Amino acid sequence: MIDFIVFAVLPYVALAIAIVGLIWRYRTDQFSFSSVSSQFLENRKLFWGSVPWHYGIILILLGHLFGVLFPSGVMAFNGVPVRLYVLEVTGLALGLLVLVGLVFLLLRRGTDERIRSVTTRMDLLLLLLLLLSIITGLGTAIFYRWGSGWYVQTATPYLRSLFTLSPAVGYMASMPLLVKIHAVNASVILAVFPFTRLVHMLSVPLAYLWRPYQIVLWGRRRIRQ
Ligand code: HEM
Repeated sequence: MIDFIVFAVLPYVALAIAIVGLIWRYRTDQFSFSSVSSQFLENRKLFWGSVPWHYGIILILLGHLFGVLFPSGVMAFNGVPVRLYVLEVTGLALGLLVLVGLVFLLLRRGTDERIRSVTTRMDLLLLLLLLLSIITGLGTAIFYRWGSGWYVQTATPYLRSLFTLSPAVGYMASMPLLVKIHAVNASVILAVFPFTRLVHMLSVPLAYLWRPYQIVLWGRRRIRQ
C-alpha cells in the first residue's frame, strides 16, 4: 500500500503541485524567475560551491535522462566491461564533485553573515533536500554497484510507465530502502520546485542565442551635431 502511495500517487501529486505552483508564481511574480544570485555579496566560497555543483549535477541529470531515453544504447555500451567500469567511476566521481560543491554552498549559507541575512528557510530546505538526494545517490552507487546496468532494467521501465499513466510500482517496490528514499526525495523536490530558487532552471537566458543584436548608439548627441 505504502509503495503504491509513494510510487504511483506521489509523483503525479508532485507534478500537479509543480505545474500549478509555476503558473501561480509566473502570474503573481514573473520577475522572481531567477537564481537570485548572491555573487555580489560573496564570491570566493560561491565559486568553490557553485562551479563543481553545477557542472556535476547537470551531467548527472543528463545521465539519468539518457538512461530513460536510450536504455538499449546504455546496455550495448556496458557490454564491454572496461566501458562499464569507466561509466561507473565517472558517475561516482561526479557524485563526489557535486557533494563537495553542495557542502560549500551549505557552509556559505550557514556561516557567512552577509549571505545568512539574505537566506530564506526555503533556500535551506532546498539545499538539504538536494543533499539528501546526493547522499542517497552516492550511497546507491557505493553499496549497489553497476547501477548503470540495473537502472535501465528497473528505473527506466518504471519512469516510462509513469509517462504512460500506468505506473509499474513493482519495479520500485523491490528496490532497497536507500534507492526508494532517493526516488521519493526526487518527487518532493519536484513539488517544492516552484517555491524555491530552482525556478532559475527555466529562466536560463537561452533566447540570447537567437534574439537579434541590440544596437547600442554611443554619443548620440555628438552624431547629431
Ligand atoms: C544551465 C543550467 C543552470 C544555470 C545557467 C544555473 C545558474 C545558476 C546561477 C547563476 C546561480 C546563482 C549562484 C551563482 O551565481 O552561481 C545558481 C544557483 C543555484 N543553482 Fe543553478 N543553474 C543551472 C542549473 C541548475 C540545476 C540543474 C540545479 C539543480 C538541480 C541547480 C541548482 C542551483 C541551486 C540549488 C542554486 C543555489 C545555490 C546557493 O546560492 O545556495 N542549478 N544557478
